[in-house]
Amino acid sequence: MTKGRELRLASRMERLGTETAFEVLVKAKALEAAGRDIVHLEIAAVDALHKGFTHYGPSAGLMELREVIAQHVSETRRVNVTPDEVVVVPGGKPIIFFSILALAEQGDEVIYPNPGFPIYESMINYVGAKAMPIRLREELDFRLDIDELVALINDRTKLIILNSPQNPTGGVLEKIDIDRIAQSIGDRNIMVLSDEIYSRLIFEGEHHSIMSIDGMKERTILLDGFSKTYAMTGWRMGYGVMRPDLATHISRLMTNSSSCTASFSQIAGIEALRGPQKSVDAMRAEFKKRRDVMVAGLNKIKGFSCRLPHGAFYVFPNIRATGWPSKKLADALLDDAGVAALSGTAFGDFGEGYLRFSVANSIENIEKALDRVAAWTDKNL
Ligand SMILES: Cc1ncc(COP(=O)(O)O)c(C=O)c1O
Repeated sequence: MTKGRELRLASRMERLGTETAFEVLVKAKALEAAGRDIVHLEIAAVDALHKGFTHYGPSAGLMELREVIAQHVSETRRVNVTPDEVVVVPGGKPIIFFSILALAEQGDEVIYPNPGFPIYESMINYVGAKAMPIRLREELDFRLDIDELVALINDRTKLIILNSPQNPTGGVLEKIDIDRIAQSIGDRNIMVLSDEIYSRLIFEGEHHSIMSIDGMKERTILLDGFSKTYAMTGWRMGYGVMRPDLATHISRLMTNSSSCTASFSQIAGIEALRGPQKSVDAMRAEFKKRRDVMVAGLNKIKGFSCRLPHGAFYVFPNIRATGWPSKKLADALLDDAGVAALSGTAFGDFGEGYLRFSVANSIENIEKALDRVAAWTDKNL
């Protein structure tokens, strides 16, 4: 019998955070099961799984896929990448988990965007390193202030995390930002984890990777994957590109955890990268339309003001003028209006005053959500 026995967790578990999107998804599903009609704007849709390879493969991924990825990254980032620099993992997330686990420890500082993908801060804290948030500023279209970055870099800085296009703000770093970030790092032996999972979802401008900058390849871990570009979130397919010696260590973490990425998902990944890319362009055009509808609609709602995000599929309206704290407003919108959005604070302390809406949903549902939020604010503000 386990009843009454204390669960004796390791103390490090207190430092592990979460990703609220998954909790809101569970709550929204529960409300739906209870007969409520919920509009899902919190998480991207998951495509159906289909059959294929069903046995173990190499921890770093199938060679054929690593070759295709090496070629893709060489072309898109204008660097020469070889398959031994590629590690295939189940989704983009394990590259965050493994890179931080492999590189950061007590006494090290890790700089990361805030508001930002919550797993960065969670993992930095989990490994006992010091979390050094860099604020993304609305007035800079949610890019970072380079002078603030320079002020944060010191001898204890081990890793800098960049994310462009960005979750949750939709901010996109420009060429000048990337150049200046590289200059701020200079000759220092600091690694950069460049989370480029939304690299193909840019509506204005181009994607720029710090990996492309002379002298930065050896110090960059590029994270990309299939979840966002090909709506393959449920296939669990992502990869990291990094110097081969680090790739060996990250593969060892794979051997110690999942053994390998599901082989049939990898075959699907090869098809996705090699196949026609028309669907990627079509989805980008579609997300742009949805973004425009969402931003225009939010800007008409009392207390909301929303900048036009240049990438990814999120919008991040400022809701300070409502007078409501973000979390309370997100809860009220789900409970009273049947709209699942996330509080900006789910992405860090600097997310207070904002909500995040995903536009990975139909225009029809986006309009329905906007009507509901507007009706709610009319009644309650
Ligand atoms: C910035 C960012 N990085 C990484 C991930 C993880 O992607 P995956 O679902 O492939 O693990 C996400 C997913 O939301 C994300 O927004």
